[in-house]
Amino acid sequence: MMKKLLFTALSVIVVNAQLFAQQSVELAPTPPMGWNTWNTFQTNIDEPLLKGMVDAYISSGMRDAGYIYFVLDDGWMTMERDSNGQLVADPKKFPNGMKAFADYVHSKGMKFGIYNCAGTKTCAGYPGTRGHEYEDARLYASWGVDYLKYDWCNTDSLNAREAYITMSMALKATGRPIVFSLCEWGNHQPWLWAKGVGQLYRTTGDIYAGFDKNLSKGTWTALSVLSILDKQVNIRQYAGPGHWNDPDMLEVGNGMSFIEDRAHFSLWCMLAAPLMAGNDLRKMSDQTKSILTNKDAIAIDQDPLGVEGFRYSSADSLETWIRPLSNGDLAVCFLNRSVQPINVSYDWATHVIQDKISNTDVDFTKITYKLHDLWTKKDVGTTKKAFKQSIASHDVVLLRLSK
Ligand code: GLA
Repeated sequence: MMKKLLFTALSVIVVNAQLFAQQSVELAPTPPMGWNTWNTFQTNIDEPLLKGMVDAYISSGMRDAGYIYFVLDDGWMTMERDSNGQLVADPKKFPNGMKAFADYVHSKGMKFGIYNCAGTKTCAGYPGTRGHEYEDARLYASWGVDYLKYDWCNTDSLNAREAYITMSMALKATGRPIVFSLCEWGNHQPWLWAKGVGQLYRTTGDIYAGFDKNLSKGTWTALSVLSILDKQVNIRQYAGPGHWNDPDMLEVGNGMSFIEDRAHFSLWCMLAAPLMAGNDLRKMSDQTKSILTNKDAIAIDQDPLGVEGFRYSSADSLETWIRPLSNGDLAVCFLNRSVQPINVSYDWATHVIQDKISNTDVDFTKITYKLHDLWTKKDVGTTKKAFKQSIASHDVVLLRLSK
């Protein structure tokens, strides 16, 4: 009898785990793409500004390029819950309420995301969700929320895995499919436990629009593109359809050079990173637009195989990143980390690409690939000949190799 009960309980757990993993894949078969308020506006958000942003999202071609989520980060609510313990959208910022704004986003063919925090307060000091998980989840579902970013400030001794599982269960209990974005900065190695809990999990602290140097903010350090990149190296085996490593949102268009922005975007595509833009879409330059809406680069990011790229080699500030793609294609990204230009001369015949995670085994002496440069949009020969090019400081060459 005891054995039978135990067997039944274990079966329920296994079936539930499989079901959650399956739901996760359906919610995010490829890394989520969207736009988030934080990197440009912090808590200075309101309905008129954001309606303008929704309109620019569409007129700029972002939605057509595949970006779908429109996410409000910290700062959307009042400083206190109401007398029933409910969160309230700040009536000065959102005079028509949050449901009306969510409806606006949906009416434009996009999905709506919102933010809160596992702690007692959000990072900016607004009411956190601790102890209110189920009622907050119900409220979001009633507004039509499709995506929740869930932060990790003011959590004291909370157990991260338990706190995120609680919120995940609360979201599931609403019956509404809601993408769950874990944002505990990689402190508790979410890649080891968050598969099936949420669909993306931050792997590092906050990014800022700097390419190679971190920036001290007093009590914390904002991370550069390269320093975030280096933190991704040993965790690629934990990412895949429905569970993505999240190296933080994009800073494209927020102050780095065009070349650095292009490198940042290329590398995030190599990493199968969620692509959450964070620039002012109303004022986006043509150069910024050409990066964010580069369909060939986005196709690398969104490749259905869902295998994260890896650093194949690194020498004298020149790195080669490789990402196995569906149909046996490969993405190759040469990155110049230095402040000087570098001449790359890459003789494919002397390289064998082996990757256990994707069962990739490519010997260029036995198979020939065509090379297509995804930024110049030109065919640049085949793997029969060495690839030779000068790469500017902080720039990349992003190639798609196809048979
Ligand atoms: C943390 C997160 C950021 C942003 C802010 C909001 O720092 O990591 O991405 O959400 O909080 O306060």
